[in-house]
Amino acid sequence: MRFFYKEKLIIGEINIFDIKDKKNGNKKQIIEIDNITYGGDGIGSLSSGKVIFVPKTIPGEKHLVKITKEKKNYAYGITKKTLKKSKSRINPKCEIFEDCGGCQWQHINYEKQKDFKEQILRDSLLKIGKLEKIKINPIIGSEYPWYYRNKSIIPFTKEAGRIVAGFYKRGTHQVIKNQTCYIQHQLINRIKRYTIDLLNEYKNISVYDENINKGLLRHLYIRVGTCTNQALLTFITTDERFEKLEEIADILMGKIPELEGIMRNINNKKTNVILGNKSHLITGKDYIYDYIGNRKYKIGLTSFFQINTLQSEKLYDVVQRYTNMSGNEIIVDAYSGIGSIAISLKENYEAVYGIESNKNAVKDSRYNAAINELNNCHFIKGDVKKEIPKLLNKVKKPDIIIFDPPRSGLNKEILKTVIDHKIKEIIYVSCNPTTLARDLKILKEEFEVLNIQPVDMFAQTYHIETVIQLRRLA
Ligand SMILES: C[S@@+](CC[C@H](N)C(=O)[O-])C[C@H]1O[C@@H](n2cnc3c(N)ncnc32)[C@H](O)[C@@H]1O
Repeated sequence: MRFFYKEKLIIGEINIFDIKDKKNGNKKQIIEIDNITYGGDGIGSLSSGKVIFVPKTIPGEKHLVKITKEKKNYAYGITKKTLKKSKSRINPKCEIFEDCGGCQWQHINYEKQKDFKEQILRDSLLKIGKLEKIKINPIIGSEYPWYYRNKSIIPFTKEAGRIVAGFYKRGTHQVIKNQTCYIQHQLINRIKRYTIDLLNEYKNISVYDENINKGLLRHLYIRVGTCTNQALLTFITTDERFEKLEEIADILMGKIPELEGIMRNINNKKTNVILGNKSHLITGKDYIYDYIGNRKYKIGLTSFFQINTLQSEKLYDVVQRYTNMSGNEIIVDAYSGIGSIAISLKENYEAVYGIESNKNAVKDSRYNAAINELNNCHFIKGDVKKEIPKLLNKVKKPDIIIFDPPRSGLNKEILKTVIDHKIKEIIYVSCNPTTLARDLKILKEEFEVLNIQPVDMFAQTYHIETVIQLRRLA
């Protein structure tokens, strides 16, 4: 089976589908799709043997494909006509699915999406991690794979003088208008609609134009509590004058009872980074609460919180099972965010130490430990790379380290530290099978992989979350 890691290509090829390759712009070929990438695209071969990536296709299908870009070793194309359909093909719910950069797999039934995630994970672990003879537990799916996202970042544009909101077209910053997103929580859809309608009642509110770095409104940032139905709305703007913001905020708070607060975040930079450094509260509170299982969490604007609250409970249950605690363990929750994993653990331990670099998240995690009445849950503000060695040099060393790093995974220094310090157990929670496989290639020299458990946190998209249980080889 051929294996391709597509994500790098997507990142490196902004605007690929808008660029008309002069040489191949009108070339079409019939392509049989024989695999699918981490990144979501179908893979086939051109008659020359060169690999071609075709979005929104499914292995087993045949398509008439227009080649939109050709590189030395690979090409991109778009379907002009589907000649043979997969049995797993369904009609996407969303009217902008073909163009939107958010979902990749609404055209594939959910059962098959889960199969593809298992297959992509297996391929990564084998080809990159060189992990042979592995057993992957069946992916833990979602009972209702729609309306699950508890956070949304919504860009603006103007059409015929009116402000509209939507999503970026795949690989571009072109905003496509959208009323209902089928993977966002319905409360987010409602807040977005009310807010846009209200903004349009005010004249002269400008929208940010990244080409000239001018204009006021950049994004709406909406966070909701899936289990509490609370919401926090943030206007991300430049520092241009936002007249009537207080009035707008008061009207929205009156109209939408679920809104706990409205904030403004200032971002003046010509950048793809969404949030600027300065935020302030306009009205209400600058946080919401949510529950994962029976634990309560306070979530501020800038803190990381898992996107799919209900699936997080299943994810954390897997982590709990893999900790296999007897009651006197010291546990490290590295990359602890607002303390979600540390706090979710049953109190059958001596102590848990969370390590997190975002100071607001650390503040929230300490508060969260207190409201859940957990006295042996401590949080350290710092860099995992620097803080883990300090914990490992204590008289009583940690027994288990739980890693839940960002997409970039663990760096070599951290891997060396855990190997050198003879840590016995590691639980690795990963949102990126490629960096996970890269790190496991190193860890497997010293650790046995006891369990590989994917959990589907991101239905309708190619994203894959995995929990790995590792034990030091005897
Ligand atoms: C994938 S999130 C995991 C959060 C948490 N475990 C959860 O389940 O909600 C990764 C977290 O690592 C933090 N982070 C990123 N780099 C870090 C570093 N070098 N040291 C400590 N924390 C870091 C981020 O701020 C973020 O909160």
